[in-house]
Amino acid sequence: MAEKKRSKRFETLEQRPVHKDGFTGEWVDVGLIAMGSPNDPIPSIKIAGGKVVEMDGIKREDFNMNEQFVADYAIDLEMAPKAMAMSEKEIAHKLVDINVPRTECTKIMQGLTPAKIARVMDCLNIAEIILAMQKMRTRQTPGTQAHITSATDNPVMLVADAAEGALRGFTEMETTVAVVRYAPLNALSLLIGAQVGRPGTLTQCALEEAFELQIGMRGLTAYAETISVYGTENVFIDGDDTPWSKAFLASCYASRGLKMRFTSGTGSEVQMGAAEGKSMLYLEVLCIMITKGAGVQGLQNGSISCIGVPGAVPSGLRAIAAENLVTVALDMEVASGNDQTFSHSDLRRTARTMPQFFAGTDYIFSGYSGTPNYDNMFAGSNWDIEDQDDYLALQRDFKVDGGNRPVTEDETVAVRNRAARALQAVYEEFGFPPITDEEVEQATYANGSKDIKPRNVPEDLKAAEKLLKEGITGVDVVKALAKRGYNDIAEKVLMMLKQRVSGDYLQTSAWVTKDGYVWSAVNDPNEYAGPMTGYQLSPERWEEIKNIPWAVRPEDI
Ligand code: 5AD
Ligand code: CA
Repeated sequence: MAEKKRSKRFETLEQRPVHKDGFTGEWVDVGLIAMGSPNDPIPSIKIAGGKVVEMDGIKREDFNMNEQFVADYAIDLEMAPKAMAMSEKEIAHKLVDINVPRTECTKIMQGLTPAKIARVMDCLNIAEIILAMQKMRTRQTPGTQAHITSATDNPVMLVADAAEGALRGFTEMETTVAVVRYAPLNALSLLIGAQVGRPGTLTQCALEEAFELQIGMRGLTAYAETISVYGTENVFIDGDDTPWSKAFLASCYASRGLKMRFTSGTGSEVQMGAAEGKSMLYLEVLCIMITKGAGVQGLQNGSISCIGVPGAVPSGLRAIAAENLVTVALDMEVASGNDQTFSHSDLRRTARTMPQFFAGTDYIFSGYSGTPNYDNMFAGSNWDIEDQDDYLALQRDFKVDGGNRPVTEDETVAVRNRAARALQAVYEEFGFPPITDEEVEQATYANGSKDIKPRNVPEDLKAAEKLLKEGITGVDVVKALAKRGYNDIAEKVLMMLKQRVSGDYLQTSAWVTKDGYVWSAVNDPNEYAGPMTGYQLSPERWEEIKNIPWAVRPEDI
């Protein structure tokens, strides 16, 4: 049979990167639908004797554990009758109306059931979601978070990249591992590097929950966020968990002075094959409400590691922006994703970020890769360090504070070197495998782990074990730094340990300044109420954003 004659236009289009992405039609039975599944419950509430006896058409005796938890802990019963009586359209209007204060909106939202909230979101188009996010995010000043990881878990690279990430403006930085047993050393590198780059930067090491708690209590990390919650009972039980066990874990962190947030996101239930035919957003609203009910201050969501799923269906990226909005509308901090790579198309991966970037969120990224993507151990980030100048240009193009700042080569090289030297000293003090001057030099000037000679992994792993076995804590790190003359870094690590005791940074949406002052939704509440209100770039900050080093300026000519 003769081959079909092909259009050169269509052949060209098929070669474009976007054609490597996965796209699927809606498939309701397995939950491959972003919003508004015909299986989503119809909103309703009945309250009797101070208890929810029916929610979204389900009677109390038929509640699954998620529904029970949400009904018992996440709905303001005083507000519910009034809020549920409003139409979805009316509530959606209030969310975008600059004349309706944010606090009035959060009150109404807290009186709604999961199905009602999902429907309110379906009344908003993407521009309206951006507008509502600008008004509803909890903290007025936007922020951003980085991933700092290494394909070889190279501690010298990690400390240098952490220093650079902090210098570039990431107020939170998280690491994870290539090899699990390296984790304590990775946490140590981030702790030191962060305080060299910009004192006050919060760090974490994402791993199995018991380990995260232990390392946090040792003062080697300052926060945790990968405490996952899920929208269906089956997926939850699959992880041997319940909303109650997660709430218990949350209070363990808080009681030890550690900032924490949960993680959830559209697509996880589909990915685990147990979405029960419900829409991704409806299931995610349950997760958000479970977080609220557990008393947790914030949530990392925006699909996160499951982005391939909503990314493949119609209106999926809109649903992701909506789930971020629901989090802040329920008065919690949002770390709004933009983490995992999901598209081969530079156009699509940029567009995916713009709703959070334009609106500003508490953490626009909950994982901008502060390393080249080949070193990203969270399976690759949607943006990496090699995209950083593009990002700085976008901040400047749109006069948007995306949380990052232009840096010079000289200052970057300087903080990388200082961080590597400080770690070298601490390793020596702890009797860990030496960090050579050659490694310090390589990490100072490297782009990624390919630019540094490999370490003796078995020896490093023995050191990691030693760190755990000997009970080395943040205080020991402070002592080692001070002993070797790194007093300023020692003081800043100590300052971070003091935060555990004062606990101010457990407030909603907290970050810490270089002097140890805590900004949060309490003393920096979002008061956006239309043009020229809310967060405004200070003249100094705008100067900083404008001055990308590679722009040609008249005074240079
Ligand atoms: N739902 C729940 N948890 C998630 N994580 C990432 N994406 C999701 C999601 N959609 C959590 C998991 C993972 C870590 C990186 O973040 O715990 O291990
Ligand atoms: Ca994160």
